[in-house]
Amino acid sequence: MLTIRQLVQYKQQQKKITVLTAWDYPIAQILDRAGVDIILVGDSLAMVALGHNSTLPLTLDTMIHHAQAVMRGVEQALVVVDLPFLTYQQNITTAIISAGRVLKETGAGAVKLEGGHPRMIETVARLVEIGIPVMGHVGLTPQSSKQLGFRQQGKTEVDRQRILAEAVALEEAGAFSIVLEHIPADLAQEISEKLVIPTIGIGAGGYCDGQVLVTADLLGLSDRLPPFAKAYVDLRGTITAAVQAYQQDVQQGGFPGK
Ligand code: KIV
Repeated sequence: MLTIRQLVQYKQQQKKITVLTAWDYPIAQILDRAGVDIILVGDSLAMVALGHNSTLPLTLDTMIHHAQAVMRGVEQALVVVDLPFLTYQQNITTAIISAGRVLKETGAGAVKLEGGHPRMIETVARLVEIGIPVMGHVGLTPQSSKQLGFRQQGKTEVDRQRILAEAVALEEAGAFSIVLEHIPADLAQEISEKLVIPTIGIGAGGYCDGQVLVTADLLGLSDRLPPFAKAYVDLRGTITAAVQAYQQDVQQGGFPGK
C-alpha cells in the first residue's frame, strides 16, 4: 500500500499524485488496478451515489459501509475516508471516536476532514498525535455549502490570506496532505510552493501537487458536471444504449438465445 511518507517523496520528486473517489467494490478495484495513488471515499457520494442535494445528510455508518466495500477492492492505493458532517465538528472527543471507528472498522489508511479554523486545527493535531493520519480540505468546503454555496473561494485578499493561513496551520498540525477545492490557481500555487506536504487540487488549477476528481464526473455518470470537472467518457450514454439494446432483444426474442 502507498504510504503517506511516499506521498511527500512524490512531491519532492515532482511526481504528480492522482486521486479519484470511489464508493463501491468494482470501481475501487478498477481504480486500484489502473494505478491511482489515492482512493478517496468522499462524502460527495451523498450527492452522486445517493441522490441528496448536499453532503450534509450522510451518516458515519453509511460512510463506513461504503468504505468497507472499497477496501475489499483495493491492494495498492492509499484509501482516505471523509468524516461526514457533524461527526467531528462538535469537539475533539467526537472526532477521535469517529476517525477511530473509520480506521478500526474499515482498515482505511487515513481520514479527511474539512476546514482550517483554530478549533479544527486543534482537532487535527490531536488526531495526528494519537496516530490517525489526516488529510485536510480548504477553500470550498461542501459541508459548509449552506453558508458558502458551491462558489469559488479565495477571491478577496482577506479570503486568500485566510485560506493560506489555514493550509499552513494544517501542515503544522500534522496533516499529511491537503485538498484545495475551487480556489484561484495562483492561490493554489502559492500554497503548494509554501507547503512541504502535497496539495491535491480540484478546481484549483494545474500547480497543485496532485489532482482529484469525483469518479462519477470523470466517467460521465453525473447528471450535473461542476465547471472545473472533466468527463473522459460518456457512460450515461453508453449505459443507456446497452439498456435499450437489451430491452429490444428481450422484446424481439433475441435474448436469451434458444
Ligand atoms: O467528497 C469528495 O468527493 C471530495 C472531493 C471533491 C475532494 O471531498
